[in-house]
Amino acid sequence: MNRQGPSQVGPDLNLPLNPTEYLRESILPRYIRDPKSIRAWESSKMPGFGPETLSDEDIANVVAYLKEMAAEKIPHGLISPFAWVSELMN
Ligand code: HEM
Repeated sequence: MNRQGPSQVGPDLNLPLNPTEYLRESILPRYIRDPKSIRAWESSKMPGFGPETLSDEDIANVVAYLKEMAAEKIPHGLISPFAWVSELMN
């Protein structure tokens, strides 16, 4: 999120676009629950989150958080103040 992580496993969920900006409101919760029901290819790695892990309310809260973050992108080209953390971790 906002380049605070190295995005080596999954995509940055805010840059260049946040999923709430390109996935329809009804699709994102389904994607979090069962990614392969939305996009499926052999090597896709995103795990799905069953109701025993994330309730519908939890997913609604995750989507609300993502929506909030979409309005708080770091400007293009700026490095996150926390980038040095991921440098240390590499
Ligand atoms: C609630 C937590 C999470 C949310 C909201 C989330 C959301 C997303 C979204 C929206 C995409 C992009 C979909 C697209 O544009 O095609 C994505 C892709 C991806 N995510 Fe997640 N993700 C979460 C947790 C995780 C976890 C725990 C992992 C890995 C252990 C992960 C790994 C990936 C990977 C590898 C991709 C690239 C597509 C693929 O290979 O399946 N995500 N995620």
